[in-house]
Amino acid sequence: MKTILVTGGTGQLGQALRQQAAAYRDLQFVFAGSVQADITKWSEVKQLVYMVKPDAIINCAAYTNVDAAQADEDGAFLVNTAGAGYLSMAAYEIGIPIVYPSTDYVFDGRGINNDNGNIRPYREYDPTNPCTVYGRTKMMGEQLTARHNPRHYIIRTAWLYGKGNNFVRKILKASRQDTVRVVADQTGSPTSAMELAKAILALLKSGQYGLYHCVCEGSCSRYELACEIYCQLGIRTKVIPVTTEEYPTAVVRPRYSVLDNYMLRLTTSIRCSHWRDALAEYLASNKVW
Ligand SMILES: NC(=O)c1ccc[n+]([C@@H]2O[C@H](COP(=O)([O-])OP(=O)(O)OC[C@H]3O[C@@H](n4cnc5c(N)ncnc54)[C@H](OP(=O)(O)O)[C@@H]3O)[C@@H](O)[C@H]2O)c1
Repeated sequence: MKTILVTGGTGQLGQALRQQAAAYRDLQFVFAGSVQADITKWSEVKQLVYMVKPDAIINCAAYTNVDAAQADEDGAFLVNTAGAGYLSMAAYEIGIPIVYPSTDYVFDGRGINNDNGNIRPYREYDPTNPCTVYGRTKMMGEQLTARHNPRHYIIRTAWLYGKGNNFVRKILKASRQDTVRVVADQTGSPTSAMELAKAILALLKSGQYGLYHCVCEGSCSRYELACEIYCQLGIRTKVIPVTTEEYPTAVVRPRYSVLDNYMLRLTTSIRCSHWRDALAEYLASNKVW
């Protein structure tokens, strides 16, 4: 039986992998949070990896609070970059592959123009240009992971929701109000952590190392996502569209960060559900409101 070590086991993706684990009888999972090992410390990473002796590592540990990261560059760098590098090095030392989930924030959100002058979703080969500390530290995490271990899967995802703090949950909490203001000029790819977990495990089995985008099919604005959540649940709270300028946050989010699962589509049979279907499954199976 093969053993998969999942760091960040208490996070959204870690918990989704935990739920998926039951479907993989040939795999044994070991989940570690920061209590078991602080990935910013090489000694703790080494101790964990040499103790578990896994056949693969899925590094879900991350500093994901985008606003907090902006004011805490060192903290974000330690987890998203240095820690990622340590795990990749340890994986290399014992001869196993590493998975590093990354983010749409490695792009600047201006989009890529296609031949018709229209904006198209980002592909894996498009130039990165992160505009936030979070995005920069994740981009460097991608680079270190890849540099330290040729057997890597870098998997960029976006607008993730699972068990934990996320946009979907925030909108559900706001349903107690009569109205909620939601930004309508930011477009992305809402992705269920469960869909991502399934894709990661399938990719890991494939042995096809590389850089992948992995998001649910389709795209929408945050406003459209909020409307869909309430519509699917029959909630009557009125959603008011606002601009990014009308809803200031510490960090300005990318305006357009739709990802194209180009490599997955071209080189594998792995497919993700449409975001509306994945959302319906999430709302039906999680009593999150
Ligand atoms: N959330 C999103 O919208 C989003 C979007 C795109 C990409 N991603 C990427 O997807 C991946 C999973 O994100 P997520 O939403 O599941 O994250 P999350 O829910 O914020 O969980 C982060 C995990 O990292 C662990 N962690 C933080 N600092 C650590 C440290 N120093 N040592 C060990 N563990 C540490 C936390 O453990 P403790 O709880 O024990 O501290 C927690 O289990 C990340 O790589 C993230 O960058 C997320």
